[in-house]
Amino acid sequence: MENIGYYNGVFAPVEELMIPACDRGVYFGDGVYEALRVERHRFFALEEHLSRFRASLAFLRIPFEMTDEALVAILQETVDRVESESQQIYFQVTRGSAMRTHAFPEGAQPNLLIFTRGVPLADIVERRRLIVLPDTRWGHCNIKSINLIPSVLAAQAAKERGCTEAVFHRDGVVTECSSSNLLMLKDGVLRTAPTDERILPGVTRGHFLMLARELGVPVDETAFTLEEAYDADELMVTSTSLHGLPVCELEGKPVCGRDEPLLRKLQKAYREYFYGSI
Ligand code: PDD
Repeated sequence: MENIGYYNGVFAPVEELMIPACDRGVYFGDGVYEALRVERHRFFALEEHLSRFRASLAFLRIPFEMTDEALVAILQETVDRVESESQQIYFQVTRGSAMRTHAFPEGAQPNLLIFTRGVPLADIVERRRLIVLPDTRWGHCNIKSINLIPSVLAAQAAKERGCTEAVFHRDGVVTECSSSNLLMLKDGVLRTAPTDERILPGVTRGHFLMLARELGVPVDETAFTLEEAYDADELMVTSTSLHGLPVCELEGKPVCGRDEPLLRKLQKAYREYFYGSI
């Protein structure tokens, strides 16, 4: 065989291997992986790869209970099914399969995916051309990427502290939340971070700004600091699923509640717009 895949106990050619759509690897990239060279069906630097793999699992708090011994036995069985003397094996463990919710799903069991195929060793004689790019990993929050590990970890942290959302900031400047935007009301002005690469340009955010303008509420798209957030008249968490949630507490400190009439007016306008548009 030229390649083989494995998923939770089932072997199949890679092209035919099926994984469920609700594997969190599919829609969150919520997993870790390793890739190893295999020569003459033997692994190179296996210990180092396993050690990094365990460290990655620990960081993401994925409770993968299979022992190294059992894992290596499956990896070995996988490479032994491929004839090539020179292989590259890839394996990943995701947090499990569950309906999509950002925080860790209860009771999900990690999924193990493996595939290997013949890949010749790199030609290390010929010189190569390179390019240079600024390292912006992951500085593209405006892209709705499925790689949401920081959001997953933040949502879980919020949940563990009995909170609804986690507000992100960069050097004290508020960007957005783990899966929503954050809007502030101060002195009658609706303010939120501008749509650059630091936030997702939320559809709901856009609708709130549009409705505010229609209602004659001034809008200011300049980022505000955490300090300003603590001092906000109102804060609102917006997203497709949450619409516009009011806020009462930030990091355990009571906040908001100082301009309820305007807050409720905007929420009402949004609900009306919502029902009027569907
Ligand atoms: N989250 N910011 C982030 C990081 C988001 O993931 C989302 C949406 C938003 C709000 O965007 P919109 O108003 O277009 O829903 C802002 C969706 C709801 C999710 O991940 O399920």
